Amino acid sequence: MTTTSRQNPSLAEMTDLMPLSATTNCADPQSAYSELRARWGQVAPVELEPGIPGWLVLGHPEICNVARNERLFSRDPHNWRMYYEGIVSPDSGLGPMMFPRDNAYFADGDKHRRLRAPIEDALEGMPEHQLAGMVRQTCTDLIGRFVDRGAGDLVADYAAVIPMLVVGRMFGFGMDQAEEFRQGLLALFGSGEDSQAGNRRVEEMLNEIIHARRAEPAADVTSAFLDSGNLRDDYEIEQSMVLMVSAGYETTMTWIAQTLRLMLTDDRFGGRLRGGRLGLDEALDEVLWRDPPMTNMPARYALADCDLAGRRIDRGDALILGFAAANADSRVHSGDPWLEVGNRSYLAYSTGPHTCPAQRTSRIITRIAVDTALHLLHDVVVAVPAEQITPIPSPWTRCPASLPVRFARSATVHN
Ligand code: HEM
Repeated sequence: MTTTSRQNPSLAEMTDLMPLSATTNCADPQSAYSELRARWGQVAPVELEPGIPGWLVLGHPEICNVARNERLFSRDPHNWRMYYEGIVSPDSGLGPMMFPRDNAYFADGDKHRRLRAPIEDALEGMPEHQLAGMVRQTCTDLIGRFVDRGAGDLVADYAAVIPMLVVGRMFGFGMDQAEEFRQGLLALFGSGEDSQAGNRRVEEMLNEIIHARRAEPAADVTSAFLDSGNLRDDYEIEQSMVLMVSAGYETTMTWIAQTLRLMLTDDRFGGRLRGGRLGLDEALDEVLWRDPPMTNMPARYALADCDLAGRRIDRGDALILGFAAANADSRVHSGDPWLEVGNRSYLAYSTGPHTCPAQRTSRIITRIAVDTALHLLHDVVVAVPAEQITPIPSPWTRCPASLPVRFARSATVHN
């Protein structure tokens, strides 16, 4: 730490800050990031919500430093000053992403490694062809529900439905049960009147599948969790399952939706792909560079006073990882997608001990979802002007709120 940085203002002393949501709820996030860089450098103070400031880390190497150094930057929100001093309201909109929960996501060190290992093992142990077959069947079934209408919304009818159904089926639920599970999760995440009932149903269903697999194991995630020596009881198994669904839901939905949106609205991107000059995997990579599903990732909490890119960080400060900003950092990306084919140093999956354990799984899901839609829906066109496709309001992600399309009517779909 340098004396200079201690003389810099603390986060609490900074005024006139840009709201974090100004970087997501706009047509061009990179112009908001440029404005922040010009004023503050690679680490900028922002307002997470009114009265709650935090640091937004914009540089690629700076994010790597933070995400890889858990001795200095904790993942556990109990170390967030705004939280432990009771400054952030218990019903704050930041809660779902920034308040502590008892799972791997919010843990550090040994506890984190113990809770993460079974998730990694379960994901790695899943046979790829079995997963791919199940995903293709799920996507085909979904398209079959609206293909005869000649119109649909590729977010509400498709991208938003796939992740919960697929993860439910990875737990061992059949298609109907997975649909019931999804309805429970939607009620639970929606925090409306039916949220408690949704929570109860999700817990019941998880308990049922845990008991069923204890009696008769199968080749699924639930059996892998039961087999793991690391998860101590049914509570930890259940929490790990809830974590998998919640971590996989918005991310995978956004990746599918952003890829379909770009294919249908960006002629350069869609043309290269349709013309065979860009493979689907490379197109998916390009989306992870341009529009990573987690635009801004919460959060790390400083465990000691320190200096980061010339900014004064105090113990207890929150740091948000600006993945979309870092992906445009000229130190890792030239800005020319042609030159970058094969470069996977994007931060879409983060880095360090908490890096997403589902990189292979989520790519299989997203690749098959995009491929199945393009294969089964003929002559697809977007039904609204591209500029009317706006993101769901959130400081963290930029998932299109809807992607209305028209296509040739067809009575049936075949795999
Ligand atoms: C089925 C799909 C998915 C599942 C089951 C899943 C699961 C998880 C889990 C369990 C974690 C917590 C890991 C830990 O804290 O050690 C995590 C973290 C994360 N995942 Fe995924 N994920 C999925 C899809 C995605 C996708 C599509 C993306 C983006 C391309 C993504 C990006 C991330 C990021 C950025 C983190 C946070 C890492 C951090 O805090 O530094 N995930 N994921």
